[in-house]
Amino acid sequence: MEQPLTVLCPAKVNLYLRVLSRRPDGYHDLDSVLHAIGLFDQLLFRPASELRLTCDAQGVPTGPDNLVLRAAQLLRDRFGIRLGAEILLRKEIPVQAGLGGGSSDAAGALIGLCRLWRIETDDTELWSLAAQLGSDVPFFLVGGAARISGRGENATELPPGHQHHLVIIKPDLGIPTASAYEQLDRVPARKRAPPFFDDLFPGMLSEALATHLHNDFEAVLLPLYPELTQIKQALRNAGCLASLLCGSGSAVFGLAPNKEQAETIASQLSSRWPWVRAATTYPYGALLLQAEGG
Ligand code: C5P
Repeated sequence: MEQPLTVLCPAKVNLYLRVLSRRPDGYHDLDSVLHAIGLFDQLLFRPASELRLTCDAQGVPTGPDNLVLRAAQLLRDRFGIRLGAEILLRKEIPVQAGLGGGSSDAAGALIGLCRLWRIETDDTELWSLAAQLGSDVPFFLVGGAARISGRGENATELPPGHQHHLVIIKPDLGIPTASAYEQLDRVPARKRAPPFFDDLFPGMLSEALATHLHNDFEAVLLPLYPELTQIKQALRNAGCLASLLCGSGSAVFGLAPNKEQAETIASQLSSRWPWVRAATTYPYGALLLQAEGG
């Protein structure tokens, strides 16, 4: 059988996340530094007459609300496509973790289906389609490190820097993104975050980066979910330089001094939490791997 088109969809962490004001459209303006990490979902595409999505993980809805199918439908509507696709989603990035898995899959679907359906588009149009699918989706078209603003749709690539080695822990609890933002809105006067200070931020050595990690969601979510503080402490006690909530949670990452220590810490903590991984920062976004027959 012909090789499927394969797209690698990386996860992300926010190294810095400041939530600014709530906007009239209900979204929040952000100032954030995102970095893609080497933890991947995979999307495999084959030509078909109908549009069909299957997923190898339990608990991932594969109906029309799945961002992969929404991306497919958006392309079909925009470009008058009548073709279908058989899409397999191999899920490694946990859901409701703040790791951007669904958004990365959506960006991967845009990239894969443009190739499969031979759609000629430009970066500006792809970017605007991505922004319609979700706030973090445009970031995954570029990946690497970027500073984002607006509701997430403005992304400025940051210079590639040092590789950072992370340990990521996802507890059993999941935090829906919208509810995390609601928690923030309930706090009338939040402590102001330290301002972002340097565009070379992700390129710092890990020791320096450790002192500058920040996430506004910690102030409201850590008191609500004590397990998050336990994970942060466990990561620090095991040798991480710092630890931080991933996006709007519920995963937490620790910044390890090097790759070996990241792996040792991950294997040590995997007896306490069901999902623990070591991962390295990654310089790309969603990426087409194989294009035979495409
Ligand atoms: O854009 P996305 O679908 O990923 O956002 C999920 C939810 O998170 C939104 O419905 C909104 O409640 C909240 N959100 C927000 N401000 C952002 C991004 C997301 O309020 N910048």
